[in-house]
Amino acid sequence: MAGNPILLITAPDISHAKALHELFQDEDLQHEFPQLRPRSVENAREFLDKQTDLVGGKITFFRLIKIGYSPDPAFHGADYTDLIGFVTVAETGMGDFVLSSGLNHLLSFAVARKYRNMGVMTTALKMTIDAMIQYEFNFIGAIVKSGNVSSERVLSKCGFDKVQSTAINSTFIRRLCMSLPDYNKHFRPAMS
Ligand SMILES: CC(C)(COP(=O)(O)OP(=O)(O)OC[C@H]1O[C@@H](n2cnc3c(N)ncnc32)[C@H](O)[C@@H]1OP(=O)(O)O)[C@@H](O)C(=O)NCCC(=O)NCCS
Repeated sequence: MAGNPILLITAPDISHAKALHELFQDEDLQHEFPQLRPRSVENAREFLDKQTDLVGGKITFFRLIKIGYSPDPAFHGADYTDLIGFVTVAETGMGDFVLSSGLNHLLSFAVARKYRNMGVMTTALKMTIDAMIQYEFNFIGAIVKSGNVSSERVLSKCGFDKVQSTAINSTFIRRLCMSLPDYNKHFRPAMS
């Protein structure tokens, strides 16, 4: 590979359809995202194509996490990037809606196995949260299945508060644009 590797967060791009399909061959992703999983490369291409226009769709935010190797640090075309993960905010399924006390949108994320436990997701999520603030989300919520320690750890490192915990899962919230008094009023009491 040509240049020094750099972590990139980009908009969806259909040139990474094959890589997205491969990413979802990981059993952890199949377990975490049974609905999102593209069944074929063509399916992944259609999925990525759909995410370029998010208005009115179930997914309200979608970013790819990539490693760029371009010899020119100002240009990271598809030939010089590897897709290694994604961050998304999507409409909550009925199960999660009930289990998460009525949050209607939830954050999800994943990183390819060979890049795990190097701080990639923590860095990528911090970069993505800045973009979400620009989208004027008031707050962002995530549900983590019990036992997914690394996901809990990523959320904690990115400033999320654990506001609820059951035997099945935990709910995490991160304040974005919401005023602190409003945030404390709606979420802090759930921690006690
Ligand atoms: C969750 C996931 C995105 C984390 O990505 P990552 O790039 O490995 O995350 P990071 O390296 O930034 O942080 C992982 C943290 O978890 C910790 N960790 C991992 N496994 C752990 C374990 N078994 N016990 C305790 N801590 C653990 C790491 O040490 C690290 O914390 P540290 O920086 O304090 O040492 C990745 O594991 C993944 O894609 N999993 C499958 C999909 C998934 O579960 N998504 C979340 C659904 S909400």
